[in-house]
Amino acid sequence: MASQSFGDPKVESFLDTVYNLIKDDALKKGTSRNEPVIEFKQPNELQALINFEIKSTPSDHQELLAEIKKILKYSIKSGHPHFHNMLYAGLDPYSQAGSWVTDAVNNNIHTYEVCPVFILMEKYIFQKLLAMVGFDTGDGLFCPGGSASNCLALHLARFKRCPQIKKEGQYNLPRLRCYISEDGHYSLKKAGSYLGFGENNIVPVKTDDIGRMCAQELEKKNTDVYFKKKQQHILFHFLKSFVPLFVMATSGSTVLGSFDPLPELREVCKRYKVWLHCDACLGAGTLLSKKYKYLLNGVENCNSLSWNFHKMSGVPMQCSVLLINDKELMQEANSCSADYLFQPDKHYDTTFDTGDKTVQCGRKVDVMKLWTMWKALGDDGMEARIDKAFDNSRYLLKKLNVTPGFRLVLPEFQCTNICFWYIPASLRGLTESPDWWKELHKVAPKLKARMVSAGTMMIGYQPLSSKGLVNFFRVVVHNPACDHSDMDFVISEMERLGRDL
Ligand SMILES: Cc1ncc(COP(=O)(O)O)c(C=O)c1O
Repeated sequence: MASQSFGDPKVESFLDTVYNLIKDDALKKGTSRNEPVIEFKQPNELQALINFEIKSTPSDHQELLAEIKKILKYSIKSGHPHFHNMLYAGLDPYSQAGSWVTDAVNNNIHTYEVCPVFILMEKYIFQKLLAMVGFDTGDGLFCPGGSASNCLALHLARFKRCPQIKKEGQYNLPRLRCYISEDGHYSLKKAGSYLGFGENNIVPVKTDDIGRMCAQELEKKNTDVYFKKKQQHILFHFLKSFVPLFVMATSGSTVLGSFDPLPELREVCKRYKVWLHCDACLGAGTLLSKKYKYLLNGVENCNSLSWNFHKMSGVPMQCSVLLINDKELMQEANSCSADYLFQPDKHYDTTFDTGDKTVQCGRKVDVMKLWTMWKALGDDGMEARIDKAFDNSRYLLKKLNVTPGFRLVLPEFQCTNICFWYIPASLRGLTESPDWWKELHKVAPKLKARMVSAGTMMIGYQPLSSKGLVNFFRVVVHNPACDHSDMDFVISEMERLGRDL
């Protein structure tokens, strides 16, 4: 029987070995330019390589260690300087340490009784973040991801407008409508169906040529023209006795990295008393930078904001905060006062039992990994990371602009996502007919497959139906370990792998 005691020398030796494996294989090798980003195997091959079977008898340490070694080997190295595939990237030693501490004490952040330190830490971080955003009397909550933060924001907006929903449910509610840019994140659609609005009541709003929501399209002042068309805009809904409830602005859209114009959207929302939520899961990192925080001008007048520190700031997954500009609303909307957990007669100030303001019961501590990193780097270090990401992305942009075979998808990029087509030699200089674009659509998946087989780099691709764009690459460069040489590598490696396509 495997021992469960941490004092047992065999357990200690097992843990030491695991720590060394993590340090050497995941952290050192996993971030080395001389090592692969990925050793891709098809699912059936991987199934054969790792022994997932749990038997009725215990496994010995040797067997477990052998599997852990393989698990580390075949997992994607998202901290590698050539991993540009997703909006999360980078591995920070201090936030790693914070993560380990979190798991070692395994506190549940609902009551002060069982989680005293992290409750106070959360409180401190929320105060800091609320001040940065400019919410005077706000509240905050770490949520299990940005989609959950957006969903909770919608839930709070509905409760604010229709507080009877908490007791009576949604019977007798008016027909509520929500609005999001056509390039906004799909999490609002999910929240719409999950919370009972219905996907059809999540209305997409047109974006301009660089992907920002058009405030005029949102309101559609020119009703005469519009009434004959799709009839999907705030003024129409208002007149038709729908209740426009919620606009989700995007600050840093998922693909193009565009920032919606918050002051203009605020004006429309004010006119119709609509909640303005800012999905800044990607772009809120710019608030850490004196140079780039202008991108969120007007954020202080939003009602709520989602901020994923696991995206631009490189904190390990997941680290997502919802901030709202209302001190009491979360508690009012969600509290259930469970007798066994939130007893009012405890021997300490029970306002520190913050767990009743969530829709969860138990909640993982996500603040420690953020706090440890921020404490280690200071505000200056956090800012430098954002500025470095922008510097890398601007360098890449310039190089792509002058390298034959690469074409940018937008004339300008507001964030650090850079989107482009790779045009192989076989398609260069030809008439760009619909068939030519059909052929170009096939290039990105083929090049991606080669990239993954080579294991040298990972970059995501996608079409963008709202703009009728065929498959293109999106490079994300948040990893603070990246420098200009990694940007050069993006170009040279694509050329090497895609030349003969
Ligand atoms: C703009 C935006 N909002 C929300 C989300 C959802 O965040 P999460 O993956 O943490 O649920 C994403 C994810 O990429 C995003 O890009």
